[in-house]
Amino acid sequence: MAKAPVSAQDELFALRLDRSAPDLWPMLDALYGHRPDYPAFRTALLKTLKQAWDARPADLKRLDLKRDLEPDWFLRPDMAGYVFYIDRFAGTLTGVLDKLDYLSDLGITYVHFMPCLKPRPGDSDGGYSVMDYRQINPALGTMADFEQVSAALRARGMSLCIDLVLNHTAKEHAWARKATKGDPKYQDYYLMFDTPDLAQRYEQRLVQVFPDNAPGSFTHYPEFGKWVWTTFNEHQWDLNWANPQVFLEITRIMLFLANRGVDVLRLDAVAFLWKRIGTRCQSEPEVHMLLQALRACSRIAAPALIHLEEAIVGPAEMLPYLGRGRHDGREGNLAYHNSLMVQFWGALASRDTRLMGHVLATHFPQTLTNATYATYIRCHDDIGWAVTDEDAAAVGLSGPAHRAFLSAFYEGSFPGSFAKGALFQVNEATGDKRISGSFASLAGLETALAAEDAAGVDLAIQRILLGHALIASFGGIPLIYMGDELALLNDDSYLNNPAQAHDSRWSHRPRMDWPLAEAAHSGDSPSARVFQGTRAILARRRATPGLHSGYGTRIVFPENTGIFAFQRLAPAGPVLCLFNMTEVWQHLPLAWVQAQGVTRMHDALSDTAVQAHKGTVSLPPYARVWLT
Ligand code: GLC
Repeated sequence: MAKAPVSAQDELFALRLDRSAPDLWPMLDALYGHRPDYPAFRTALLKTLKQAWDARPADLKRLDLKRDLEPDWFLRPDMAGYVFYIDRFAGTLTGVLDKLDYLSDLGITYVHFMPCLKPRPGDSDGGYSVMDYRQINPALGTMADFEQVSAALRARGMSLCIDLVLNHTAKEHAWARKATKGDPKYQDYYLMFDTPDLAQRYEQRLVQVFPDNAPGSFTHYPEFGKWVWTTFNEHQWDLNWANPQVFLEITRIMLFLANRGVDVLRLDAVAFLWKRIGTRCQSEPEVHMLLQALRACSRIAAPALIHLEEAIVGPAEMLPYLGRGRHDGREGNLAYHNSLMVQFWGALASRDTRLMGHVLATHFPQTLTNATYATYIRCHDDIGWAVTDEDAAAVGLSGPAHRAFLSAFYEGSFPGSFAKGALFQVNEATGDKRISGSFASLAGLETALAAEDAAGVDLAIQRILLGHALIASFGGIPLIYMGDELALLNDDSYLNNPAQAHDSRWSHRPRMDWPLAEAAHSGDSPSARVFQGTRAILARRRATPGLHSGYGTRIVFPENTGIFAFQRLAPAGPVLCLFNMTEVWQHLPLAWVQAQGVTRMHDALSDTAVQAHKGTVSLPPYARVWLT
């Protein structure tokens, strides 16, 4: 009997499975192969992948093919992201539709909706305590609205990123509710112990994430007699990734969201996924095996989807999230460049780029495989001073002293500081003091406006544009955090909200100021200058092919510690990016500039020629140039 003909869609699935099988099964074999339920898990996973593929809408399958043909789509210089809370930016999900012209005009091609899945009621850690991954937060809209908005974005060629919290669910999630009622199947979805001793043994090495308001990493629930692992807040229960059922459930959710039109999944807090006693339980090797396996699942059943991994860790620990060693090219397509952000603020405060150059040259390679950074200056979270003692010592600094200096500087208490920020989670045991605050307030605008200091206002504006020019050229997708394009200041109204008052991160999660945004298209108010400057930076980025993220980034060291410099290694000739991190003029020998491969002396950022005088190139306060 002749075999039934294989449909083209089935054949495509089979080819995609063949392509990614070597990335998938070896990881799962190693993670779960020893378990008696492993064969059944493999069968269930295959079924999940095929069902998701069969359910994938035709327009998304077309996008899959398009991205197969243009695998560098997310590396191109026209990519520029904008990150916002839906309610604070547009009221509701469908309200976003009315704001798309604003975003297009700014040069945005990628939007990140801050957590939009159904959170627990009350304090939900800004939406990161999710009780249903298949529903949209009802305060924002419905899944039908979501699909409408995602289709509208797709029609404009804009990519959509949303958060997927992998490390924990809300304690109100259906799995957690069943676990609370004593169902052993669901208790095994979480990490919960009958007695406190194991929790105490783990606790010895764990780093506290929220020491102020959620000390410790375990919560005891006498009602059902368990000690539950709660790395973040009490209401966020860590999932047990050693259980393959968790892998299966999350894969289903991931593909469900992909099929609603998500292009980029921001995988939240991934460093914490795997626990190993006697370690910090962060960035364990199994984390990278899990992330590679999840990535392979996406590539099989929703190939247009890419993964952004959120691991806010030290410089040496961060790179593996973009795939190192055997994971090269197979893990995150994107990961936050936390070190670039920290070093930007560090160099601004110290007026010295030595540590910045050292960290970025030592810990990061020039090129990555099928991956790039999410570059940013501000986001919804605090800034932690992820500077190691070794790196500080390498440039003659004391790690603890430098970190303490940065906290004091950005809190605003250091004499002469231009910044105005707020402390977040002071850890008495380690001396760590993290910082909250908006880009503009940390960059000096709030202080200067209060002092009616016009020159100070000017410098603050230049610092913001310096930061945006840095993230637009370093390599990666620059992410503009909502309001930073208008220089919005800290908003302390959160102090009046009992669910937020304990969390100073709300000071830099303002509401969008639409009248200000309207007015910013003309005139020379601080907001207008920052808006127009940021828009120009993104436009010049689009117009500069040498900034493609596939090209290498090589840190170079001019003999001037006020200037941070790197080359973008474009085949048609390097782009030399220079940043004066100080409020005074800085000078470089023309011969050094030319030795970096600069031939035309054309600044691609301002699109003008740069003149040298008597063999010297001079950079005004906070200047940024992209020299070709
Ligand atoms: C991530 C989020 C942060 C949240 C945490 C716990 O780090 O960015 O806002 O508090 O995860 O979900």
